[in-house]
Amino acid sequence: MLKKIQETAFYLKNRLDSLPHIGIILGTGLGNLVTQLTQKIEIPYDIIPNFPVSTVEGHQGKLIIGKLGGVDVLVMQGRFHYYEGYDMQKVTFPVRVMQAIGIDTLLISNASGGLNPDFEIGDLMLITDHINLFPEHPLRGKNYEVLGTRFPDMSEAYSKTLIAQAKTIAAKHNIKVVEGIYAGTSGPTFETPAEYKYFRIIGADAVGMSTVPEVIVAKHAGMQVFGISVITDLGVPGKIVEISHEEVQEVGDKVQPLMTLIMKELVCFLA
Ligand code: HPA
Repeated sequence: MLKKIQETAFYLKNRLDSLPHIGIILGTGLGNLVTQLTQKIEIPYDIIPNFPVSTVEGHQGKLIIGKLGGVDVLVMQGRFHYYEGYDMQKVTFPVRVMQAIGIDTLLISNASGGLNPDFEIGDLMLITDHINLFPEHPLRGKNYEVLGTRFPDMSEAYSKTLIAQAKTIAAKHNIKVVEGIYAGTSGPTFETPAEYKYFRIIGADAVGMSTVPEVIVAKHAGMQVFGISVITDLGVPGKIVEISHEEVQEVGDKVQPLMTLIMKELVCFLA
């Protein structure tokens, strides 16, 4: 694994003039941030050595290096989901590559189902914490001390400073944001009403099929993390309706300019 990470990092370093310290992973239908990038270099996943190839519709599968609000960033448009069949090493490989090129801050987004009865479709939820419900842990197996410690601390998985800054940015632009806990599950089924209820009872405000593995590895790598969940449907009793991947994408399409604005100003704050 270490050799593969180094190989891929070497490939990317050779293609870049300046190395970003901020990495961004964009979730389902949330690739629009890319339109705000200047001086970009786009590299399709399938030509990056050792990179898995994304299979989900709506994910274009590109790594983009460019400037967001004038600041160097590395953006992953399209991620690798556990439900696609990748093992956790593959799902989180891009985060290891980010670590190897010197990225110390990860901004991550996803689409999720809202469980908190106060939430509405289209809300942007700043992730304050997560519950890992994936059947496989990304750090299971031999620990490489060069990558991180055996037993990583997760007491502040999502940076309080970045959450506070995002709230300030949202208030300035009159963007409604909510805060909450994200439960990560394997999918690919959306939840049954009983499962939504269960996730709510155990303390989650939203549920989705990604993010948690990448955040665990980012924390192992010593990065600070900021996450936003777009609430695309509701798993709230009385509000549960049939949903599809397409509907999830439609909601994502509508609110992504707001998410992009928050991310862009956060990046400027971090610069
Ligand atoms: N459940 C799980 N994942 C999701 C959902 C949901 O309701 N909506 C978008 N991603």
